[in-house]
Amino acid sequence: MARNTEAKLNQAAAKKEPMVPEAGAGLRARPPIVVVMGHVDHGKTTLLDFIRKTSVAGREAGGITQAVGAYEIEHAAAGGGDSAGAGRPRKITFIDTPGHEAFTAMRSRGAAAADLAILVVAADEGVKPQTREAIKILEETKTPFIVALNKIDKAGASGVEKAKGDLAAAGVLLEGYGGQVSWHGVSAKTGEGVDGLLDLVLLAADLEELTYDPGLRGMGYILEARRDPRRGIEVSVIIKDGALRRGDPIATPSASGKIKILENFLGKPADALEPSAPALVIGFESLPKVGELFGATVDDVRGKSAAPDAAAATGSGLRPRGDRPILAKNPHQPNALTLILKASDAGSLEALSSVLRGIDQAADRGLHVIEETVGDITDGDVKHAAATGASIIGFKNRVEKGAVNLAEGQKVRIITSKIVYDLEKTVKEFLLGTNEPVVGELEVLAVFNQEKPDKQLVGGRVSAGVFRPKAGCDILRRGAAEADSQMVALGTGRIFGLRDKKTEITTADKGKEIGVLVSSPVLIQVGDKLVIRK
Ligand code: GTP
Ligand code: MG
Repeated sequence: MARNTEAKLNQAAAKKEPMVPEAGAGLRARPPIVVVMGHVDHGKTTLLDFIRKTSVAGREAGGITQAVGAYEIEHAAAGGGDSAGAGRPRKITFIDTPGHEAFTAMRSRGAAAADLAILVVAADEGVKPQTREAIKILEETKTPFIVALNKIDKAGASGVEKAKGDLAAAGVLLEGYGGQVSWHGVSAKTGEGVDGLLDLVLLAADLEELTYDPGLRGMGYILEARRDPRRGIEVSVIIKDGALRRGDPIATPSASGKIKILENFLGKPADALEPSAPALVIGFESLPKVGELFGATVDDVRGKSAAPDAAAATGSGLRPRGDRPILAKNPHQPNALTLILKASDAGSLEALSSVLRGIDQAADRGLHVIEETVGDITDGDVKHAAATGASIIGFKNRVEKGAVNLAEGQKVRIITSKIVYDLEKTVKEFLLGTNEPVVGELEVLAVFNQEKPDKQLVGGRVSAGVFRPKAGCDILRRGAAEADSQMVALGTGRIFGLRDKKTEITTADKGKEIGVLVSSPVLIQVGDKLVIRK
């Protein structure tokens, strides 16, 4: 493809302020840090996968990326003549970002930490909402980018043309299409065009003149922070300057510690790592905030610009975490739903908040979040929930065994999910209920057999409408707190048989007492309601 990219890239390079001074004595070149952005399912992870020849995409829960992953690869640029070192393998650090709309803050962070970006646009779909959002973030963070028109195996030439038109409409004018933004057609599936794309990345990197000072102590960005049940606080970072060594102090404006364990992106222990390597650090005494800059001391990073605050970068209104409720519409609203949010890591917690914010706007009931923390759901959380009448929502974490038992005893509702789509759906059903008209309703008076959740036998009285077999049902339960007299959907089930004494029946009218066979992951309790809707 055409190579008149330099003018554009020079322009872009001039816009973005380098984080390190001009190359001079003692400075060494460092590999580019490249963030991959784009709409959900446009092929970012598959592309990186092909590049790494591994299969993270296949292993991800639900097949979508939910955390910022950073990887280092090597690429030998094709001999273009103009690029010094053609043919010699050179390192590139890639940051994958999730495309789902809930992860805006993670994408902003990815862009802020990177030197360059690849905007992935699936040629069969063209520009979509998160493509536009990515373009906005790249412009705001002044990150030079190149475009990968992906899925060319599927979309063909006409798809590529349409995607170019879409991009032009979104303000991104490609080379050969009235503009100077470099692009490459690729198939992340077959690998076609990927080498050419990597050549473009190295070309763009050459124009950035990326350097670091090996004499300094390591500094860079916090990409992710989480609590591991065994290893304690694990922090993923990306090193942008200096050398990061085991045993050194490490600090951000919000947390500090000493590097006890240093690992490379493959999880191998290292004594020292240099830019632009991704690294895992164990040794922080408390969780640092994602997006912060780190150095050996807080003075090293104070005053330097960190990743844009999520709210500032996106206007999404993410509020700082603390002891104040973040979603309170009106905490004194009598039927406001009190919630405790827990997620496996800080980024997932943000995504969970973001999903809830969307739902909060649609809900009649106010949502009152009293606590947001990172980690598994513990019996302490259940006690807190029981004392405050809260429900617990977990994302990508586990519920400790003690917490499960306690929650059952205390009637605290816990819902968890591993996949953001599921989470949205479950939380919506849980919080909003559904407005479909009720066909039949049963009050559960007895539980006869629950050995297998998919074959529960319960007894009850039809309290409204007509009850029939072969129907889906909602399972409603009264809230834990006395004041919360509303019943809340715990989940769904399927009714596959009705009995009048020992006889199978096909319909039961209001007032009749019957036996019901239900399949549901929710273990039904006396006092629950089974509701069949239209
Ligand atoms: P998120 O992380 O959820 O934002 O998605 P993503 O952009 O990382 O997309 P992912 O790599 O998970 O790919 C989504 C789907 O598109 C998968 O089923 C891939 O197999 C498929 N896919 C990705 N690239 C290509 C391609 O070049 N050609 C074809 N035919 N399919 C592709
Ligand atoms: Mg992905």
